[in-house]
Amino acid sequence: MRPLRIALTKGRLEDSAAALMERAGFDCSAIRDKGRRLLLPVGGGDGPIEVVLAKAGDVITYLEHGVCDLGVVGKDVIMERGGQFFEILDLGFGRCGFALAAPDGADFYGGYRTKTIATKYPNVARRFFGSKDMDVRVIKIEGSVELAPVLGLADGIVDLVETGATLRENGLRVVEPVAQVSARLIVNAASLKLRKREIEAIAERLEAGLRPAAE
Ligand code: PRP
Repeated sequence: MRPLRIALTKGRLEDSAAALMERAGFDCSAIRDKGRRLLLPVGGGDGPIEVVLAKAGDVITYLEHGVCDLGVVGKDVIMERGGQFFEILDLGFGRCGFALAAPDGADFYGGYRTKTIATKYPNVARRFFGSKDMDVRVIKIEGSVELAPVLGLADGIVDLVETGATLRENGLRVVEPVAQVSARLIVNAASLKLRKREIEAIAERLEAGLRPAAE
C-alpha cells in the first residue's frame, strides 16, 4: 500500500498546517526545508505519510480522485467548489469572513437597477443573493477583487476580509457579512472506509493539537 497522503494548501494556510502537524507530534522538517519539492515525507506517524503541497482547488481534485487521502483546505474553497468528500474537522486557523463590500458612502441596496458584483467566488455570491431573492450580475475576477468597484466595473464585491485593511485602503466598507470561514480537514470517502484506522489516528492527533497544551 502507498503511504497515506495528506494534501496541504500552499501559501497562507501552509505554515499553520505544518505547525499543527508538529504540535500533533509529526516530524515536518521536510516541509520546513522543502525547496521546490512538492511531495514530502512526514515522520512520526504509525506508518509512512507523505505531504503534497498544492493550490486549494487542486487539493480537492487530488482528494476526489483518490490520489490523496486527507486534505487541508479553506472553507471558502469548499463553499465555492463543493465536491465528493467528507469534512471532518474545523482546524481553526485561516479564520476570516466572506463579506459583501461596496464603496464607502454608496447606498448598495438603494435603487432598482440590477447590481453588478465582482468576485473570485461566483457560486458563493450567487447563493448569497439568491437567498435574498435579489437578481445580480456576477463577474468573475481572479484576484485583487477590490479593484473592480474602484475602477467602476462593479457596484460591490463578495470577497474574503481578514483585517479589513484592503477594503479600507481602497475606499470600500463591509455592507453585510456573508459567512465565516477557516481551514478544514477533508477526507476521501473511499480512504475513510479502506484506511479508517490510520485516518482516525491522524485526525485524533490533529484534533488534540488544536487544544492548548495542559498547564
Ligand atoms: C485576500 C482577499 C482580500 C484580502 C483581505 O486576497 O481576497 O483581497 O486578502 O485581507 P485583509 O482584510 O487583511 O486586507 P489575497 O491577498 O489572498 O490576494 P488576491 O486578492 O490576489 O486573491
